[in-house]
Amino acid sequence: MQQAAERLAVRYGYRKIDTPIFEATELFSRSAGDASDIVLKEMYTFTDRGERSLTLRPEGTAPIVRAYFEGGLTEEPQPVRLFYIGPYFRYGRPQAGRFRQLHQLGVEVIGDDDPGLDVEAIQLAWSWFKELGLSGIGLQVNSIGDEVCRPAYRELLRDYYRPLLPQLCADDQVRFERNPLRMLDCNVPADQRFKADAPRIVDHLDAACAAAFEAVKAGLRGLDIPFALNPTLVRGLDYYTRTVFEGWHESLGGAQNALVGGGRYDGLAAELGFRSTPGMGFAIGLDRTAVILKQERPGESDGLDVYAVTVSAEDRGQVIELASTLRGHGFGVIVDAGEARLDAKLRKADRRGARLALIVGPEERAHGQAILRDMRDKEQVSVGYGELPAAVGKRLDGRV
Ligand code: HAM
Repeated sequence: MQQAAERLAVRYGYRKIDTPIFEATELFSRSAGDASDIVLKEMYTFTDRGERSLTLRPEGTAPIVRAYFEGGLTEEPQPVRLFYIGPYFRYGRPQAGRFRQLHQLGVEVIGDDDPGLDVEAIQLAWSWFKELGLSGIGLQVNSIGDEVCRPAYRELLRDYYRPLLPQLCADDQVRFERNPLRMLDCNVPADQRFKADAPRIVDHLDAACAAAFEAVKAGLRGLDIPFALNPTLVRGLDYYTRTVFEGWHESLGGAQNALVGGGRYDGLAAELGFRSTPGMGFAIGLDRTAVILKQERPGESDGLDVYAVTVSAEDRGQVIELASTLRGHGFGVIVDAGEARLDAKLRKADRRGARLALIVGPEERAHGQAILRDMRDKEQVSVGYGELPAAVGKRLDGRV
């Protein structure tokens, strides 16, 4: 899964970046905003021997913006396109799809506010799910304006929610004061009924934000990327401006269980004390993606193409050699040269999720051939050693 992600990001011109696992707490508290759940409840914060407050990174965007400025990336041709894969830490209550150590694949494009980059990022996320063969993803898109048009909308939202406050949950009481937009993100069932009549930010964008949002929508339509406009989508981190998006899978429960989330963050660099610089990006939850892949394609394993087995002890050398040749052609191969009977080995191949089994016994060796068995339809063919890579590629849906 990770290799496929890297290949895809490179195809879009993104370069890999690694940032430290922990950073100064201030980086995250300044970037995520006071009202975000990540800052209020979910940071793994500790004090080191020098009495410095450090935090295990809960997300990748703020560290990458920091690295962009401190690592000299401002000097490179702009915008700078970066991607990252790694562990992140959130002190939430562990539950299905919500882990304390999670893994993300993310991209950030920094240094340009062109809405075309928003489209590119969303297309990249969409291509990733297509590449994995995942269906049932619903893309949700919204614009939450910027610091020019959002303050007036914030007040409108407060005016709407003020008379309702006594009926709202405790978190919403806090959000009302600190960042009322996050009230639209509330998942307490009893509070949902108030969302429908709340004023919509898309109706209150200024001309520049509205034009940018139109360009994003037109770009997505031009690429035939299906999306739904979701006026209550505001995201769980407070650094976003203009475009925000999430990808929900039908088997996960809505906003709280998005597979991917991201958006534009044109105010983040300044918020962190750097020169004002626009940015856009997203992160995909790899743990949740893996869970869904398992549900959708049970029995299929990650990258294992061929389970290569011997029939007798004398076949070992030949099987190892053929496996090595196949790996050289990019196929994933396991060698099973154990003493178990052939049917037991084939059962193992099945349980391990291999698409093909390669069988070599004394009879095959005598003819310079191997048996290729399709583990799905159980069909078997004899193939000469030299033709094996092509035969395996053909069986694996045309891959050579
Ligand atoms: P996020 O929405 O907080 O965004 O996380 C992105 C994805 O990480 C989620 O959609 C979800 O799949 C996964 N995820 C988050 N928390 C957990 C958890 N506790 N357990 C399992 N998976 C989880 C960000 O982190 C932003 N930095 C994304 C971004 C990049 N925005 C702009 N650039």
